[in-house]
Amino acid sequence: MRSPAEVLPKTSAQRRLLSVLSGKALSPPPVWLMRQAGRYLPEYREVRASVSGFLELCYTPALAAEVTLQPIRRYGFDAAILFSDILVVPDALGQDVRFVEGEGPRLHPITTSAGLAQLDLAATEEKFSRVYETVQRLRQDLPTETTLIGFSGAPWTVATYMVGGRGSPDQAAARTLAYSDRATFTRLIDIVTEASIEYLDGQVRAGADCLQIFDSWAGNLPDEEFAAWVVAPTRRIVTELKRRHSHVPIIGFPRGAGTNAADYIDATGVEGIGCDTAMPLAQMQALANRGDVAVQGNLDPLLLAAGGPGLDKRVREILDALRGKRHIFNLGHGIIPQTPPEHVTRIMEIIRAEASE
Ligand code: CP3
Repeated sequence: MRSPAEVLPKTSAQRRLLSVLSGKALSPPPVWLMRQAGRYLPEYREVRASVSGFLELCYTPALAAEVTLQPIRRYGFDAAILFSDILVVPDALGQDVRFVEGEGPRLHPITTSAGLAQLDLAATEEKFSRVYETVQRLRQDLPTETTLIGFSGAPWTVATYMVGGRGSPDQAAARTLAYSDRATFTRLIDIVTEASIEYLDGQVRAGADCLQIFDSWAGNLPDEEFAAWVVAPTRRIVTELKRRHSHVPIIGFPRGAGTNAADYIDATGVEGIGCDTAMPLAQMQALANRGDVAVQGNLDPLLLAAGGPGLDKRVREILDALRGKRHIFNLGHGIIPQTPPEHVTRIMEIIRAEASE
């Protein structure tokens, strides 16, 4: 005879990532990898080759759902992250966004108040609704125990692309605009913040279980600018999402925040903190010891790509440092296209060999 537990349908209460975000420590820790859907997987490259552009993939629900599911099928991660991009927000607002093969994103830069006029919050729904359809499909197709993560870029990081027109190591264009024309930059941040709130709200209504806010370029700002452009808009997003959906946890990823990470947690109210590759394990332990936040991270994506005994050793060090604490195993930044897929298999073996609870 089957026990009642086997007969009862599984519920979201059994989603391990959500358990850790709501206060439990689990062994083995739940695991997912930033950018887990992508070019390192041959099955992704095949789907990618069937469409003319990257944004087309993001806006075609059947294909976006398929590539989201690929790494779940292959590795059985505890969470799936919606396949989309942080630059869907400027695209939906009406900015010209292109992805150039081998070069990355190119946007028509916005550097003046006149440039802001092309942005239209009312226009976003048309493109956002295609992403919501992807989320709906995913919630139906994913295993019940798999957490579905929705996401957006944080306003600061999205604005660095909108102003600079491309990625840059120092975000000079956005930082300069913030100093030289604060009114225009403030208006830009406000527009992106409002669009992001609606976008995340729509993802939750479509079935996302939790949210991550990617602030990939949070690390280059003096403290007052960090407070104004990283913390304040993120706090506004988190506060509004909590008002609308109090049960949906949020992970913040202020990459490069360093010693500002604790203030970021205090001020924004996130339940999870994404820790980048450079954050010392001792700092992750200290953040986990606060008790009010789960720590996520922080294996070096370059070490994952390199593989070998050094990779095994570091995975074990991270597990050892955070055992018994609220930890979500992840990378310190996105997986890189050169990563051999079997290296991911290897780290999953090591992580899942941890005693289960
Ligand atoms: O699997 C997942 O994590 C979900 C999908 C996802 C993508 N981008 C798909 C993608 C997510 C969560 C992102 C976030 C994102 N996009 C960030 C924040 C995280 C980070 O890495 O810092 C940023 C800064 C972007 C902007 C962006 N999109 C850049 C700079 C690039 C070019 C660099 C690159 O890797 O090609 C992209 C393109 C992109 N986004 C690809 C994928 C799979 C590759 C494009 C392709 O397949 O042609």
